[in-house]
Amino acid sequence: AKIHHHTFKIKSKAYTRLCNTKKILTVNGEFPGPTLKAYRGDKLVVNVINNANYNITLHWHGARQVRNPWSDGPEYVTQCPIRPGESYVYKIDLTVEEGTIWWHAHSQWARATVHGAFIVYPKLGSSYPCPKPHREIPLILGEWWKKENIMHIPEKANKTGGEPAISNAYTINGQPGYLYPCSKPETFKITVVRGRRYLLRIINAVMDEELFFAIANHTLTVVAKDGLYLKHFKTNYLMITPGQSMDVLLHANQRSNNYFVAARAYSSAVGAGFDKTTTTAILKYKGVSLNRSKPVLPYLPPYNRTEASTRFTNQFRSLRSDHRPVNVPVKIDTRLLYAISVNLMNCSDDKPCKGPFGKRFSSSINNISFVNPSVDILRAYYRHIGGVFQEDFPRNPPTKFNYTGENLPFPTRFGTKVVVLDYNSSVELILQGTNVLASDNHPIHLHGYSFYVVGSGFGNFDRRKDPLKYNLVDPPEETTVGVPRNGWTAVRFVANNPGVWLLHCHIERHATWGMNTVFIVKDGPTKSSRIVKPPPDLPSC
Ligand code: C2O
Ligand code: CU
Repeated sequence: AKIHHHTFKIKSKAYTRLCNTKKILTVNGEFPGPTLKAYRGDKLVVNVINNANYNITLHWHGARQVRNPWSDGPEYVTQCPIRPGESYVYKIDLTVEEGTIWWHAHSQWARATVHGAFIVYPKLGSSYPCPKPHREIPLILGEWWKKENIMHIPEKANKTGGEPAISNAYTINGQPGYLYPCSKPETFKITVVRGRRYLLRIINAVMDEELFFAIANHTLTVVAKDGLYLKHFKTNYLMITPGQSMDVLLHANQRSNNYFVAARAYSSAVGAGFDKTTTTAILKYKGVSLNRSKPVLPYLPPYNRTEASTRFTNQFRSLRSDHRPVNVPVKIDTRLLYAISVNLMNCSDDKPCKGPFGKRFSSSINNISFVNPSVDILRAYYRHIGGVFQEDFPRNPPTKFNYTGENLPFPTRFGTKVVVLDYNSSVELILQGTNVLASDNHPIHLHGYSFYVVGSGFGNFDRRKDPLKYNLVDPPEETTVGVPRNGWTAVRFVANNPGVWLLHCHIERHATWGMNTVFIVKDGPTKSSRIVKPPPDLPSC
């Protein structure tokens, strides 16, 4: 095992996309940011120096941070932000992770440009459970906003109670690609040799949209998701939510030619505004010039085709392997049902309104719209500072809650409420989508853990019937799960990682409106089952 040292300087740098030059936040001046590479069992030490004018924190999405929530990153949950001119050292111990994960800022909307791939190779001497690829290519799906200063988007949305701004382009490895103005020559290119296999490490770093992704004429073989192996399956397109990563094998077995790699939105929310453009890269067979042969576009399902999304995600199954047996908890200690919803709130003098019906947009989990405290929850918990959070998060929502009806908004309250879990308790969490205002797919991400997705369906979860259909044999293990529009997803995990862990929607506009909540997992009985001591350089608020 090796220790890798990195320095990440947060700084503004001017970039030009769509004929528009503006300063964006970057790590070391790079957009997308640097790719981290390590082997399973290695450790990383990343010194983050904030040379920008904004507060910042970084999160290592998919890294479990076992017993070390101090390095997890979400602002006001596990740490106070690193202020301009200050620095903080993150430590990541890759004990269980393997595959493609990623890192991104976890403060305000900084992650729009502050993100990068994080590749964890199998332990030295062991190999992938798939044919060895000739080459590996990270593909980061991102976005570009022409006019907006991204750092002001959530502030503005909060001030008005209206919608955050919508992006002008999606990007692949920072480039909008061929179909956008001023973007053709810089289109990202993947050059392949006919007959060879390539491993694409695809990350959806987009703020607000789930994406369909495909490569013209090529079948893709999905081998992993969120840095966890899946039983291989073949598909013509992917549906990848913000927060998810997918490892996909590409066999360059078509006629030597040029082909488009393309992605565009899957947006299930009826009536919501979204970026309708298509980003492309070019898959170039070696020796074929672009002038000789213009690439063709792949088929992508229509924007609102929920069946296409469901058909794709229903194929996920865990791959049994020696280093990660499938260990689904069977006896459940704690059962939770979280109703996740986009709704409206009344306005007050300090909270004006620009949303529909003269109200302001809000999001909630069991009708609680999360508010960041002024000191991080982890420190408050660890040091017994009172008044920062409450432990009375409603574990089961009101019985009259009609999850899929078009009924009027429920009274949603602001709050910083948590659920406390006993160490090693087994948890079943039902994530129930609702349709109080606009129903949508919600990619729900849990920090500090992976969970088994044992079931999912449309409509209201039925406590009696639905558990009979659970997959307890080979359910996929994930860290970000797409809860279907007007449907539910059941996940299970064992609370064996003590700490303070955020659960939230990875659609940033929903998180901005309050679709966040927190688990506190208590310490275990032994020294090796307790949270480690806080580091000396922990930023203060
Ligand atoms: Cu990828 Cu809480 O984040
Ligand atoms: Cu959401």
